[in-house]
Amino acid sequence: MISRVFHMMRKKQCVAAHCSLFHLASLHNRDNDSITTGKPAYRYIGGKQVAGSYRINPAITGIPEGDRKIINDFIIGREGLINLSSGNPAVEVPRFIRERVKEELDAGYMGYTNFWGIPELRKKLADKLKAECGIGADPDKEILFTHGVQEGLYIVMRTLLCPGDEVLIPTPHYGNFLFNTIACGAVPVFVPLREELGFLPDIRMLEEAITPRTKILIYSNPNNPLGVTWPEETIQELARLSCEYDLLVIADEIYRNFPFPGPPLSIASLPGMKDRSFTLQGFSKSYFMMGIRAGYVTGPAEIMSHVKHLHYVILLSPARLAQYAALASLDCPPGQVEPLWQEFRDRLSLLHEGVKEVQGMSCVHPNGTLFLFANIKSYGMPSLELSKKLILEAGVVTLPGTEFGSAGEGFLRLSVSSSREHIREGIERLKVFGKQYQKKRKEG
Ligand SMILES: Cc1ncc(COP(=O)(O)O)c(C=O)c1O
Repeated sequence: MISRVFHMMRKKQCVAAHCSLFHLASLHNRDNDSITTGKPAYRYIGGKQVAGSYRINPAITGIPEGDRKIINDFIIGREGLINLSSGNPAVEVPRFIRERVKEELDAGYMGYTNFWGIPELRKKLADKLKAECGIGADPDKEILFTHGVQEGLYIVMRTLLCPGDEVLIPTPHYGNFLFNTIACGAVPVFVPLREELGFLPDIRMLEEAITPRTKILIYSNPNNPLGVTWPEETIQELARLSCEYDLLVIADEIYRNFPFPGPPLSIASLPGMKDRSFTLQGFSKSYFMMGIRAGYVTGPAEIMSHVKHLHYVILLSPARLAQYAALASLDCPPGQVEPLWQEFRDRLSLLHEGVKEVQGMSCVHPNGTLFLFANIKSYGMPSLELSKKLILEAGVVTLPGTEFGSAGEGFLRLSVSSSREHIREGIERLKVFGKQYQKKRKEG
């Protein structure tokens, strides 16, 4: 009942008062000091850490580290492992792109570029967004080239979020959605994505989680870590919800070239959504150039002007060579890149088929990204413990589902970033482990 009243209030607020974000922002600023993380503050005197003096920003000390770090530390110095944990595929960047970047390097000039990205590049990105995603974006006011999608996520969230604002995060989720929320002093509101629904969001649950303080809905589609791509009907439902409750949406589409049968629907292309959506896409995964650091964000001009200013404050201009790499990617002959996307789709099917044969593991059918999310509940132990056990006893590295939030307990994320041979070998090792482990369990 209480929650229904809440929803009514929210609806009323949205429809009648047109409560502006900026008004909410000034209210929330007053809450700044109430944010606590439970961690003590420290001061450094003569190189020693002394508790209780300088107050380090609790929003920063409160950013969790995640289980990935534990696993990365755990594998240091261990030999002969098959790594099925990484999101860093070992693939050569298409030759065409490398040649163009070399030409730019050899031209010798390495000055700053336009702060928002080379105009020619922004124009091409606008054409691409229109042609491939149905998003009309003004290249001068609504597109910013960023130091990867990671920078885009941070500056958009930092621009929008005031302390105390709530962020709706369907979970398991990409870690940075949470980390950025905490860093902004905002409040994450998790809505579980349930395996029995194929990890599609339950719109009713999302709706129930909305309060007058909810400002942003954030998701990745295709989804890391779940490996699924939400269908058009789901995106339409999310759009309806966002309009009804006056939410802003951040859609991370970094894996948009991988799903089968086709790319996801961009929420910003739907009626009424352009002015409330931020779409982030990039080159790290699509062109296998994670180390180049190239991404872009588009959103409504008024807010983008502030996002751009924050980008300027942090980075001045984006990396010059990254922009030439991005320009080259946009001209890259399809024959040099599309087979690579297909290769990763095939690897995902290979991994999925294999995981189905591992005793005690099951998995929602993956149809996008470089990952799948395997259910390991039948092993009867926490994900982190099983992940460590697999390193020690099977020589296979996976990521505990809890790296992606507590809703990931009972799951492992497996990736196809390594070669087919490694994937096959990894599966064989998992099969042997699974068989022995489940046998021992049964015996008691
Ligand atoms: C969902 C998601 N968003 C963003 C990123 C970071 O992308 P970038 O390399 O463009 O910063 C990743 C990297 O793994 C990711 O999985």
